[in-house]
Amino acid sequence: MPDDSNNRESDSNNPRHIAIIMDGNGRWAQKRFMPRAVGHQAGVKAVRKIVEYCVTHKVEVLTLFAFSSENWRRPTAEVSLLMALFMATLQREINKLDRNNIRLRFIGDRTEFSDKLQQKMAEGEAQTENNTAMTLIVAANYGGHWDMCQAFQQVAAKIAAGELQNQVISEQLISQHLSTAGLPDPDLFIRTGGEQRVSNFMLWQLAYAEMYFTTTLWPDFDQNSLEDAIKSFKSRQRRFGHTSEQVLNKAVTL
Ligand code: IPE
Ligand code: IPE
Ligand code: MG
Repeated sequence: MPDDSNNRESDSNNPRHIAIIMDGNGRWAQKRFMPRAVGHQAGVKAVRKIVEYCVTHKVEVLTLFAFSSENWRRPTAEVSLLMALFMATLQREINKLDRNNIRLRFIGDRTEFSDKLQQKMAEGEAQTENNTAMTLIVAANYGGHWDMCQAFQQVAAKIAAGELQNQVISEQLISQHLSTAGLPDPDLFIRTGGEQRVSNFMLWQLAYAEMYFTTTLWPDFDQNSLEDAIKSFKSRQRRFGHTSEQVLNKAVTL
């Protein structure tokens, strides 16, 4: 029986964990005949609104895909701009997050970032470590393939050190070594910008997420847009492999 205790939604039927691919910044700017950079700046403003909404509505975990392991392939000028924007946003927002009792975490291979940026990320995590209102995960230089690789490497190292026996490799053990260890898997996955793909985001953790795609470009995604997504989520019947009748008759605990 696979262990899927991480996938359970709370009694209130609200998503405990929302994971978002914030896509469409470039097109938002291009539509206005402005440089893509302007779209990324507008994207940061949208982040602020969505974080506020989620913390007010008691979402436990919000994960935002900020920069993928594939985004290094963009023109150097855009990558540099994104790095500068990332740094400036952290400098400006960490204290605010802290004041709002939000715990900040980063997932992804941070070793590729500048020392200064890595230091700021570590500072942000340390400063907000004990906050309890919500966990905000920023996925930066993140890829689902990377996440699984690093988990398998940790497990392999433990086996080599004699801390684990081969036969105990279980789904639970792998989950415990992913970058999201200890947190519930996403219940609701949102992608803005019209593309309907996962783009190497949280491949393991999205196993039973409800998928929601919208053509709204990320800078235009606001509280109402998020409410629509949550409404759609609540209207669905999650079955986790059971039949519809089993769920309706409450013959099973989800
Ligand atoms: C998402 O917006 C932000 C990042 C990937 C950093 P895009 O920059 O991908 O916007 P589009 O898809 O080109 O419109
Ligand atoms: C995915 O968006 C990554 C982020 C939003 C950070 P992309 O715009 O890079 O995705 P693809 O390459 O079009 O799939
Ligand atoms: Mg895009």
